[in-house]
Amino acid sequence: MTDENATYQKAESGQPLALEKRDTTEDGRRFSPSIGRNKDIVRDTFLTVMPKQGVILEIASGTGEHGAHITSAAPDLTWTYSDIDPASQASQAAWRAHEGHDRLYGPLTVDTTAAHWGEAEDGAPWGGLFCANMIHIAPFAAAEGLIAGAGRLLRPGGRLMIYGPFAREGEIAPSNARFSEDLKRRDPSWGVRDLDLDILPLAAQSGLDLVKTVDMPANNLSVIFERR
Ligand SMILES: C[S@@+](CC[C@H](N)C(=O)[O-])C[C@H]1O[C@@H](n2cnc3c(N)ncnc32)[C@H](O)[C@@H]1O
Repeated sequence: MTDENATYQKAESGQPLALEKRDTTEDGRRFSPSIGRNKDIVRDTFLTVMPKQGVILEIASGTGEHGAHITSAAPDLTWTYSDIDPASQASQAAWRAHEGHDRLYGPLTVDTTAAHWGEAEDGAPWGGLFCANMIHIAPFAAAEGLIAGAGRLLRPGGRLMIYGPFAREGEIAPSNARFSEDLKRRDPSWGVRDLDLDILPLAAQSGLDLVKTVDMPANNLSVIFERR
């Protein structure tokens, strides 16, 4: 298990969720320990490789902390939260209410395994899509749908940033291999994806070019694609 990827299990509904021990404030904002550790480097990376103005759709926003943290540092960016989990959406709404600006929207309901992303389709073309720590804690169809959705909904030149653990060409860091085995024990359809073998072929089919990868702490990567 990577340092930052704590405990994961399924909710009673069967939906895949991160069930780290999360603190909740009285106003409903939740805090993830892993985001407490990675939010600055994720923000700084985002602001280096993604549009600093325009409209961003976040997929699988979880607690909502990344959107709040990034938009507070980027005054020309508007950010729309989305998730499939109502409890996470409630936290995203609380973060939106808490932040002192009007550039946070949503939360929308977006299930990347669905062929149509509901209201997120109406917001297209998006300038950027951001998705952290989702594709390994969901069936592979969620990764397929994320890539297809980015191809469908990004404007030409728009970017997709995926953050999380990856294998590369069949090689995987020992900590990520242990984490992946742990995930697969929880659900055989989960597991750390191989960027080269699993994801890049999908991206090519969806009109997305790999721009760069950025090494992140705890054997994570930020992967940035651009819509042709
Ligand atoms: C480990 S949490 C990550 C949350 C947040 N992005 C972060 O970095 O902490 C995984 C999130 O993926 C969401 N999720 C799982 N399957 C999904 C799907 N098919 N479509 C959209 N979101 C999904 C869950 O509801 C949860 O909020």
